[in-house]
Amino acid sequence: MSAARMAQVLDRRLALDMAQVTERCAVAAARLRGRGDEQAADLAAMDTCFRELNEIPVSGTVVIGEGVAGEWDHLYVGETLGRGGAEVDLAVDALEGSTLCAKNMEGSIAVLAIAERGSLLKVPPVYMEKLAIGPGYPDGIVSLSQSPQDNVRAIAEAKGVPPSEITALILDRPRHAPLIEAVRKTGAAVKLITDGDVAGIIHTTNPQESGVDIYLGLGGAAEGVLAAAALRCIGGQMQGRLVLDTEKKREQAKALGIRDAAKVYDLEEMVRGDCLVAATGVTDGALLMGVRFSREVIETDTIVLRAATGTVRRISTQHRDFRKFRLEA
Ligand code: FBP
Repeated sequence: MSAARMAQVLDRRLALDMAQVTERCAVAAARLRGRGDEQAADLAAMDTCFRELNEIPVSGTVVIGEGVAGEWDHLYVGETLGRGGAEVDLAVDALEGSTLCAKNMEGSIAVLAIAERGSLLKVPPVYMEKLAIGPGYPDGIVSLSQSPQDNVRAIAEAKGVPPSEITALILDRPRHAPLIEAVRKTGAAVKLITDGDVAGIIHTTNPQESGVDIYLGLGGAAEGVLAAAALRCIGGQMQGRLVLDTEKKREQAKALGIRDAAKVYDLEEMVRGDCLVAATGVTDGALLMGVRFSREVIETDTIVLRAATGTVRRISTQHRDFRKFRLEA
């Protein structure tokens, strides 16, 4: 569904509230950049996220969060958050790329999506096979049912360039060795990232800037739905297939209403209606600048995306009221 034809359900003004949430999560995490402690950075971002989400005017239910009730104090799937208002689904990753943050490497972000109630795909804690390209290509030009080589050749042809001018972004994992080899065999370049495939998938929407034409490979299913929400706003194509390779995973999926373990989900099946997405950089990256601290000012860089209109807002903020960040804690 194009942005123009999507019913506008979510109030645009929510976008600013969301930006405030991700800004504060990013600042909390950024204070722990480079300290080598993923968990501390994650917890700082999650605590902040819980507190800030409770301030925004929605009745939200966490659909994509941090595991299940009992595993985590907050942001678990099913938790209700917000100070009341429109009934919405929440998808949140208060610190996406916690290892990147702990090592002070490029690409960690705080990200939040708010979607119409019941519109986000519920996924178990498993991998998702992902394929994403940016806007401007004919519908259905790439697909998980064809080989990575065919997908690369298809976008090369559509761009009017040889495959050698295509760059595929892939998570640097041993499991991706055959995929990387297959893509390189077409002549295409492979750009590897160590973590952070939400930002990685968003990179496909701006190949001129990012140099990335296609995203391929297995990553977290939760991150897949978050990335789908972003693409639903900016445009582009994405497919995801859950990796349900054990009985336990298939049972977990069944409990969420997933009967067909091999189903390939399109963008519109992962995010079925209107949504808003906000993301703030924690460390520097091609998508967003990381948080900058100085004595007088904390600077943050945020994008806010709106599916109903396709609006992409960039919010560069100078924060001077440090009490908001509870830096004394
Ligand atoms: P975390 O922020 O939860 O550590 O996730 C980082 C990430 O790189 C995701 O972007 C990606 O989807 C997933 O981990 C990949 O999982 P794995 O590290 O198991 O390959």
